[in-house]
Amino acid sequence: MSEDKLPEAAHASAAALDPFADPGLPAHEPRRTDIDEKAAKRAERQVSLLFVISMLATAGFIASYVSIDKYKIIDIFFFGKVGALNLALGCTLGVALFCIGAGAIHWARTLMTDEEIVQERHELKSSPEDREAAIREFQQGAADSVIGRRPLIRRTMIGAMALVPLSGVVLLRDLGPLPGVALRHTFWGRHGKNGLTTIINENTGKPLRPEHITKGSLVMGKPEGLDQDNHEYLEEMGKAAILLVRLEPDEIKSKKQLEWSYNGIVAYSKICTHVGCPIGLYEQQTHHLLCPCHQSTFDLADDGAVVFGPAARSLPQLKITVNERTGFLEAVGDFAEPVGPSFWERG
Ligand code: FES
Repeated sequence: MSEDKLPEAAHASAAALDPFADPGLPAHEPRRTDIDEKAAKRAERQVSLLFVISMLATAGFIASYVSIDKYKIIDIFFFGKVGALNLALGCTLGVALFCIGAGAIHWARTLMTDEEIVQERHELKSSPEDREAAIREFQQGAADSVIGRRPLIRRTMIGAMALVPLSGVVLLRDLGPLPGVALRHTFWGRHGKNGLTTIINENTGKPLRPEHITKGSLVMGKPEGLDQDNHEYLEEMGKAAILLVRLEPDEIKSKKQLEWSYNGIVAYSKICTHVGCPIGLYEQQTHHLLCPCHQSTFDLADDGAVVFGPAARSLPQLKITVNERTGFLEAVGDFAEPVGPSFWERG
């Protein structure tokens, strides 16, 4: 063939092949479950079994949440030490969700219609006719899914899907307990002898003496007996944490504040009364404490009053004294008011 005839031949060959021609849909091949009612029944039982396993796993999730100690650690070969509760919750929830997904897929592959259909593209805004057609197709789809004729699948699927959200509902309990009573009492009021609790330096773990609180310093304190191996440690420290500063006694403005201090040393809750961040920035010149979260500022020379920011009430003060025998600083009882955010007082 001469060179000038080559493009013509190529075009003819391409036209003959017509790579863009619509090949149409292949003929529908019925599946075994389409022609054998026994196979369809077997598939139905398999789907239902998966939904039943999902229900059992959800029940296991709830039972684990209620019965397994949240501090229990177990040793698992290869993975090492893991929290028993987390492991149980993860496994049961995973099985519950997996079985719903597997059941739905198996149902679709074996019992729902597998006939391919062609849907032509149309304008974004559907015409009334299209909408009616969509409703007809939806109804046809519902009929093809055989949900009306397979009550066992329908009931077990509804049961499985109704139970799965319960896993989320029980987790709401982790948002609690409600603060009202919990924040009114702290470790300071529960564990002292004769209402007196030795104040421990949170950083060194040693009892504090008045001479340890130097002018200009900010010392973090906690109650004696609240140690890190105490299983309530985080919960209790979140309420009992205090900070101590030394002021000149004549700088203290309120009589009650003076009575609750020891030689100018005052102790206040470290938990911001806005939304509960730990406060930690102290300005010696002004005696102002600044919360780093939203800049609420408290005046320690004026009974912890709010001088700036969104906090709605003063920092609670802890009454302190010194044990004449040991020389250690001690708290007298508990805070006189709840620590932390004040939302529960409203209304
Ligand atoms: S938590 Fe302290 S200012 Fe918001």
